[in-house]
Amino acid sequence: MSLKHGIKTVGVVGMGQMGMGIGYVSALKAQIPRVIMCDASPAQVTKGVSFFEGLLAKDVKKGKISQEQADAARARLTAVGSIEELAACQQEGAGSIDMVIEAATESLPIKLKIFGSLATQLPLDTILATNTSSISVSKIAAAAVSERAEKGSREAWEGPKRALGLHFFNPVPVMSLVELIPALQTSESVTARARAFAEACGKTVTTSQDVPGFVSNRLLMPFINEAVMCLEQGIASKEDIDTTLKLGMNHPMGPLVLADFIGLDTCLAIMETLYRETADSKYRPAVLLGRMVDAGWYGKKSGKGFYDYT
Ligand code: CAA
Repeated sequence: MSLKHGIKTVGVVGMGQMGMGIGYVSALKAQIPRVIMCDASPAQVTKGVSFFEGLLAKDVKKGKISQEQADAARARLTAVGSIEELAACQQEGAGSIDMVIEAATESLPIKLKIFGSLATQLPLDTILATNTSSISVSKIAAAAVSERAEKGSREAWEGPKRALGLHFFNPVPVMSLVELIPALQTSESVTARARAFAEACGKTVTTSQDVPGFVSNRLLMPFINEAVMCLEQGIASKEDIDTTLKLGMNHPMGPLVLADFIGLDTCLAIMETLYRETADSKYRPAVLLGRMVDAGWYGKKSGKGFYDYT
């Protein structure tokens, strides 16, 4: 096992499907001794832990891992209900938290608040990564400054250097890629340690500049958006759009099934970021995508999107 990353304790903020997947590969693949998951919703904490246990049980049943490996991974996991509790885990004599990965909703105000809070409660050398799929990492990094730090002080200057983007793909246990996005402020040593961590999680790492959508979503989201426009314009049925890409191009899922799988709210948020930040009309979100989100049809997670999941 590579210890180049030097990470013995990792925190994950957000216990949704992305956060739990990140927690899973951290505990099982990278064998990080302490993986502390955190979510403000008690229901999500319960759901997340049982999802994690379910994944382990499934892998044992399939013979991919032994019961001992599953038990060891479960023993590495702790779940808490706030960033304060996450930070308090450091005072229990088990060393500092070396890295925290934020995997909350794709919303700038939420991410800025989390980064401000993490920077206030954790030491200056804790790496702070965001799993954002499109938002400016440099803007999020700029929030990695403790409330106590005075403007222009060393602490205020150093804070953002430990922040970067670490973009995992859904389902995290299955998808082999992590996109690494250094912010303008990120130090080289932080980038190198984060890369080593992602590799220890069993991932191949690509690097993208901090541009809207990075490489992955600059390519993927306009593709999905165009599929929604095809549907909107009555060019083909949803089934035929998906089948065309599935069978004609060997995609594992058609673009509308994939949009439901990612979450239509997330797809819309990414398209809005691309459109707003580039002012390029080629990134205009499909009206139908916006209306479906207005209706609360978020895809698989809400039971309805382009398809029904009830
Ligand atoms: N968590 C863990 N494992 C999962 C899983 C989940 N949520 N969903 C499926 N799997 C596993 C299954 O257990 C199965 O494992 P085994 O091979 O060990 O049996 C394997 O994945 C294949 O699953 P299935 O046989 O059920 O179904 P499938 O062959 O259709 O594969 C899929 C499912 C892996 C999701 C495949 O359809 C796929 O690759 N789809 C495309 C996914 C994709 O493009 N993801 C990226 C989305 S973009 C993103 O995440 C980032 C962003 O910024 C928006």
